[in-house]
Amino acid sequence: MSPAHRVVMLAAHADNRVIGDQGRIPWHLPEDFAHFKRETLGNTLVMGRATWDSIGRPLPGRTTVVVTRDPGWSAEGALVAHSLEEAIRTATELDSEPGRDVVIAGGGQVYAQAMPHATHQVLTEVHCQPAGDAFYPEFDRSQWRETRREPGPAGDLAYEWVWLERVG
Ligand SMILES: NC(=O)c1ccc[n+]([C@@H]2O[C@H](COP(=O)([O-])OP(=O)(O)OC[C@H]3O[C@@H](n4cnc5c(N)ncnc54)[C@H](OP(=O)(O)O)[C@@H]3O)[C@@H](O)[C@H]2O)c1
Repeated sequence: MSPAHRVVMLAAHADNRVIGDQGRIPWHLPEDFAHFKRETLGNTLVMGRATWDSIGRPLPGRTTVVVTRDPGWSAEGALVAHSLEEAIRTATELDSEPGRDVVIAGGGQVYAQAMPHATHQVLTEVHCQPAGDAFYPEFDRSQWRETRREPGPAGDLAYEWVWLERVG
């Protein structure tokens, strides 16, 4: 992989690390969707087949590599990979221009496997404790430097956007 490439984990997680419940995100934060769009436009996304199904369509302005173990799976607007390493390799080759990122877009299974490959994380910390069945993985904070933190807009649910980069 070219060192010019950043592998960015992009996720919104609750205080209890929940990211999803029964195939859906358990909150509705329109400004966070706008943030997701800003952070991903022009980049290549890697996502699990379950997350692809939950979105239900290709996201405009972004290339998506879907990871599945099903050799027969295909969907219009998606590239397919059959392992996470293959997905990251495909995404990196596509994004041959410097300054473009490989964005790991979830869900829980994919985040857990991708963490060792990640160079950056862009997290939305959502201050609630919802029930859920998909989680953002724990990680060793000492291996990461926080480079920026911004409060989300005021609303019913408090949240913050956080940018992290791997140390060393
Ligand atoms: N809050 C957020 O930021 C955020 C972001 C994204 C998703 N989500 C939520 O997360 C949930 C989905 O997460 P999830 O953990 O259930 O599923 P997921 O990670 O999206 O997808 C899991 C699927 O990916 C494929 N897969 C996983 N590892 C693989 C590997 N090593 N090689 C090949 N294929 C592999 C398998 O597909 P096959 O079964 O087809 O083989 C597996 O069933 C949903 O609730 C969604 O709304 C939240």
